[in-house]
Amino acid sequence: MKIIEAKTYEDMSRKAANIISAQVIMKPNCVLGLATGGTPVGIYKQLIDWYRKGDIDFSEVTTINLDEYRGLPRESIQSYWTFMHEHFFDHVNIRPENINLPDGTNQDAQEECARYDRLIMEKGGIDLQLLGIGVDGHIGFNEPGAAFELGTHCVNLTESTIEANARFFDTVKEVPRQAYTMGIKTIMQAHKVLMVVNGRSKAAIIKEAFFVQ
Ligand code: PGA
Repeated sequence: MKIIEAKTYEDMSRKAANIISAQVIMKPNCVLGLATGGTPVGIYKQLIDWYRKGDIDFSEVTTINLDEYRGLPRESIQSYWTFMHEHFFDHVNIRPENINLPDGTNQDAQEECARYDRLIMEKGGIDLQLLGIGVDGHIGFNEPGAAFELGTHCVNLTESTIEANARFFDTVKEVPRQAYTMGIKTIMQAHKVLMVVNGRSKAAIIKEAFFVQ
């Protein structure tokens, strides 16, 4: 594990975007595992900027997102599908058929999660997985204590995650109570993992997760 410190959010975003950019340059048809949340927005901005300058090309890249709310149609403004299009996909030359997120409208959780794991396998696995971490330590929608051996699965959101995500909805009641998420096993099978963390609110969990023996 390598820890890279950054002075500001912009610095962190640029450093992380550099790592993603290097991956795409080294392997133009790579598979990028992507994440939603406030933290990666600056990274996507930086990548869009480099794309506009002609420094990076996403035409052969495949993306596989970490998670999606269960029950939300992808056109819903709070879906992760919409988030990814607004913040990244709509601004670069990624092919729509190469974009993958769990289908929140498939009510058959077993079928949807099996489809997603099969898809990751068929693509040859994830070359670089981008991750954030929640203040409570969640990764994707895997809460602390979640079984490490799980692939993509359906989870019940905890109260803390529902509250944290309520900022994206009009009321806390509207936050879906379930999601489809890659499991820790799926994430750890990625060839490389890039976790980005920003802000004081994450300091305690980072200390606990990475620095306390
Ligand atoms: P954030 O979310 O980037 O909005 O802090 C991180 C996460 O919940 O994984």
